[in-house]
Amino acid sequence: MQILLTGGLGYIGSHTAVELLNEGHEVIILDNLSNACSSVIQKIQNITKKDIVFYPYDIRDIKKIEEIFQKHHIDCCIHFAGLKVVNDSIYQPLAYYDNNLVGTLHLLEIMQKYYCKNIIFSSSASVYGDTNQIPITEEVSKGECSNPYAWSKSIIEQILSDLHRADKDWNIVLLRYFNPVGSHFSGLLGDIPVGVPTNIMPYICQVASGKREKVFVFGDDYPTKDGTGIRDFIHVVDLAKGHVKALKAITNKTGLSLYNLGTGKGYSVLELIKTFEKVNNIKINYEIAPRRAADIAISYANPNKAKEELDWEALYDLEQMCQDAWNFEQKNKKEEK
Ligand code: NAD
Ligand code: WQD
Repeated sequence: MQILLTGGLGYIGSHTAVELLNEGHEVIILDNLSNACSSVIQKIQNITKKDIVFYPYDIRDIKKIEEIFQKHHIDCCIHFAGLKVVNDSIYQPLAYYDNNLVGTLHLLEIMQKYYCKNIIFSSSASVYGDTNQIPITEEVSKGECSNPYAWSKSIIEQILSDLHRADKDWNIVLLRYFNPVGSHFSGLLGDIPVGVPTNIMPYICQVASGKREKVFVFGDDYPTKDGTGIRDFIHVVDLAKGHVKALKAITNKTGLSLYNLGTGKGYSVLELIKTFEKVNNIKINYEIAPRRAADIAISYANPNKAKEELDWEALYDLEQMCQDAWNFEQKNKKEEK
């Protein structure tokens, strides 16, 4: 099948491109390079020994999207493109809504025009808000989001649900990712944050490599086993494979469906640091700091629905995630976006 990956040069998109190519699909990538490097194209091709087609376009440019649909018979779109830094979204809400919402509307309009009505959307566990129903199943209602980034995901889910209600020819899979970490085993693909990392794993890696002095652990007074926040860290390769399974499901005309992609296991921030130290044999300096605004105490998935309906489950454990994240950091220390 010919699959269009918007944002396909980014962290999760590039790993998904590899898994799709390995399964024999043709991959077309649209990415405006706002948070990715064009060198990722060659890296994907080196890993898979297969070619991809790349367009350096913006999803908000409807004419450019149309150009792609005129040139290719796209069977399905996996829509990763979007801005994702929670804190930035609080200070630049318009930029986030413009990029994430307007871009999605343009993409959907052209997909509809060219009768491509299959889409897999990158959503986020953050749409659940601060729920106390742990582990989180897909039955848990969406909650009050704490930032414009999470609202943009929640609103796009609503737009896609409305689209499906209006036209049952659409096949839509909403994937709610938990906390993706780690990198491709080759060390070629991974997460390169701009500036100071806001996510915990890239921050730990930068402390390990000496770029930063210590990790600030945001809060040790949560109602958890050691007082630090608990998350469902999932290896990005497992996450990428989840998209291949979702694609298989979509070709069976599944209508609208929704899946959590997580491991089902929750680890605390201190457990993550300790595991990183153990598997990589490196001391990570850390200091307990005040809680970060709007952080929740505990978030982990019940991933059974994806297992039963998509035949997908996460295979890699926290040790592998820490090992691969560090491997990537060491090989790409000097890479800047
Ligand atoms: P990323 O920033 O690495 O990848 C997103 C890609 O989209 C980048 O390559 C960027 O250049 C591109 N892009 C952004 N705006 C664009 C636009 N207007 N037109 C074309 N390309 C554009 O992010 P990621 O971590 O790979 O995340 C992929 C998707 O998954 C995003 O939608 C993100 O919100 C979602 N998500 C990520 C996480 C996470 O923790 N990484 C968790 C849940 C959901
Ligand atoms: C994890 C834990 C922090 C940094 C966010 C988004 C979510 C998704 C994934 C994009 C928390 C603690 C963190 C640090 C710390 N992103 N922490 N020191 O907040 O669960 O989720 O990223 O789509 O939508 O909300 O991930 O990695 O930022 O934090 O102590 O320097 O690590 O307090 O408990 P989060 P995170």
